[in-house]
Amino acid sequence: MTQWQEPSSTATALLLLGRGSDPGSERGVDCPGELPAASDPGLVERARAAKAALGDRVFVLGHHYQRDEVIEFADVTGDSFKLAQQAAARPDAEFIVFCGVHFMAESADILTTPDQQVVLPDLAAGCSMADMAVLGQVEDCWDALVELGIAGTTVPVTYMNSSADIKGFVGRNGGVVCTSSNAKRALDWAFERGEKVLFLPDQHLGRNTAVLEMGLTLDDCVLYDPHKKNGGLTAEQLTNAKMILWRGHCSVHGRFTLENVQEVRRQRPDVNVLVHPECRHEVVQAADYVGSTEYIIRALDAAEPGSSWAIGTELNLVRRLANAHPDKEVMFLEKTVCYCSTMNRIDLPHLVWSLEELVAGRVPNQITVDADTSRHARTALDRMLALP
Ligand code: 13P
Ligand code: SF4
Repeated sequence: MTQWQEPSSTATALLLLGRGSDPGSERGVDCPGELPAASDPGLVERARAAKAALGDRVFVLGHHYQRDEVIEFADVTGDSFKLAQQAAARPDAEFIVFCGVHFMAESADILTTPDQQVVLPDLAAGCSMADMAVLGQVEDCWDALVELGIAGTTVPVTYMNSSADIKGFVGRNGGVVCTSSNAKRALDWAFERGEKVLFLPDQHLGRNTAVLEMGLTLDDCVLYDPHKKNGGLTAEQLTNAKMILWRGHCSVHGRFTLENVQEVRRQRPDVNVLVHPECRHEVVQAADYVGSTEYIIRALDAAEPGSSWAIGTELNLVRRLANAHPDKEVMFLEKTVCYCSTMNRIDLPHLVWSLEELVAGRVPNQITVDADTSRHARTALDRMLALP
């Protein structure tokens, strides 16, 4: 087993307006030429014109957490799972412009043909949760499991919200990727092949799925802290656990609390509380419904006029749902939670800049995953796409 070392800090500095660069973390970008001003009144027209000039050569994907100004130009909107499927479904499109975050664009690159080029309009659009699992840390964890003689019976499962490196690790070690819409099926798949699961990097999705959908207990789960030797766990704890949960979380969904649920119920006894499975266990347990962003949208579509909904997910989506359903009362579960700051990095100026660069024959901010990582990550992604 490799000597345990204090993990080095990951560079996630937010670079102002996406300018400047940090090659180490791939955050930030120098935009060659001028990024249009956000106040430019011609931005919408410029985006329309550039998209029309590119025609079928470009396919724009938009995650549900994107701003309205960006969603307006998406050919398809979806949750992480649907967007991964869609990226693979358009081999004729020369360019995939991914309005989402870095790990989604990486997955699109892995799932598209070598001739297709994937563009992320602002490289500062990362994900703090994905940054919580670094390959070296995961390899150290696996070494610890090997040392204990339990790696052979452990199946690694990674949430889509992880780097291509981590997906490659999982593919190489017999595991599978999951999203919030298929986590139970991925865990079923894993437990058919092993006795325990190493779940990366979202402890909440792992715990919520294991306990609320798979019938495991909280005692079956242990929390592996990558900043501590052996995850801060004893050999006995690791050996006895069925779910080894990585200590990662979403900084947006992690902020909803049980008190938020109790408070909204006090104010509106008839309210339906609907949350994303990235929320903490006690929040999901206290909610009425839980599901991915696609599930949340479908639940609102099917809701009775006049019904009342408190939603625990990112604000752009909740605000769009409130506007789309004026006949229902749609509120945000917590008053002070903000947008996902990295999803919000993709704004109209960056989208216009990316599209106009493509029109000019230059490919900006291309996301490429190296061939070896891509091959193994693809194995793990294909296993997910083939889940029953
Ligand atoms: P889904 O798209 O799977 O609902 O996940 C939400 C999310 O946090 C994406 O970053
Ligand atoms: Fe990452 Fe959370 Fe933002 Fe999704 S909402 S991109 S998980 S920080």
